[in-house]
Amino acid sequence: MHTCVLICAYLDVIFDLMAIHCKVNADFGCMQSHIFLLNCDVCCSFPLPEMLEAHRKYGGMGTLLVIKVSAESANQFGELVADPVTNELLHYTEKPETFVSDRINCGVYIFTPDIFSAIESVSTQWKDRADLRRLSSFESLHSATRNAPTHFVRLDQDILSPLAGKKQLYTYETLDFWEQIKTPGMSLKCSGLYLSQFRFTTPHLLLSGDGTKSASIIGDVYVHPSAKIHPSAKIGPNVSISANARIGAGVRLISCIILDNVEIKDNAVVIHAIVGWKSSIGRWSRVQASSKNLYLGGHGGNYNSKLGITILGEAVTVEDEVVVINSVVLPHKTLNVSVQEEIIL
Ligand SMILES: *[C@@H]1O[C@H](CO)[C@@H](O)[C@H](O)[C@H]1NC(C)=O
Ligand SMILES: *[C@@H]1O[C@H](CO)[C@@H](O)[C@H](O)[C@H]1NC(C)=O
Repeated sequence: MHTCVLICAYLDVIFDLMAIHCKVNADFGCMQSHIFLLNCDVCCSFPLPEMLEAHRKYGGMGTLLVIKVSAESANQFGELVADPVTNELLHYTEKPETFVSDRINCGVYIFTPDIFSAIESVSTQWKDRADLRRLSSFESLHSATRNAPTHFVRLDQDILSPLAGKKQLYTYETLDFWEQIKTPGMSLKCSGLYLSQFRFTTPHLLLSGDGTKSASIIGDVYVHPSAKIHPSAKIGPNVSISANARIGAGVRLISCIILDNVEIKDNAVVIHAIVGWKSSIGRWSRVQASSKNLYLGGHGGNYNSKLGITILGEAVTVEDEVVVINSVVLPHKTLNVSVQEEIIL
């Protein structure tokens, strides 16, 4: 049996476009099977096999992943009420003004192909309404603007809310972690969460070392097998190093994401930063968040602040002895002077 997995940004708006696309490509097997729909700005353990099993048991059209959050934060998300026994979705409201529930929609779904008919019926209703409006002469004067093609099927308002309580939608609650990646700093936090999940699921992917034959490793650190790390470097916690990276002697890395083909030269320090592909950091240079962010809660930092970390785009060169603090450097820039709290265009 085939399974169709769709991963997308701006899920609310392009939901119907993808659905139509999927229908057109029915040969892929989407029509006979299950469709997984994953919001791409979500960080969680994605318990898809467990969700699928629950979905089959419920026998509904869709199953949503949900999580319990604090009552104060719930209103930033889609709040929902589910039947505690059957797990049926009873009520759904996107970002409600008054408190509904501390259970929220995680943006991870499984649907049966029936979802396409549900989308189609929403579109048909709109078309009927638009035809009715056109009968009024006043409206027809304004039809050029009124009938602009802005009618997208929105998953939350058009599908989840109306179908709640109709024995079509069910919920699967996760007890694992869940975060939405809204700020650059959240990418670092989420990287840390995935690394700590590795500790339980795939511990062989995490490095260890005491600085004798290989680098000193602290906490959760992932290093791609093709990366080269000098034994005198000290790395961790919460560091991820991608393919073909070269890390020089005496380098110190804490809470950072180092992407493919990055070179970090001797004695450079990178703390709380994302270093883009093919970038190079010179000797004795520092690339880091502001000290305020570094010491707020240890190296944990303030992930939700607008910036709070340093990001180097693709192929950025930081020359020797340069300090880059709490800044964003766009691709292909060379920094030969130190910068702080700047966006380098
Ligand atoms: C590493 O990341 C995890 C998950 O985000 C976090 O709980 C932990 O505090 C981080 N450790 C350090 C030392 O920053
Ligand atoms: C940095 O580079 C610019 C442009 O190449 C150059 O004009 C400037 O003198 C350099 N500054 C230092 C401190 O090397």
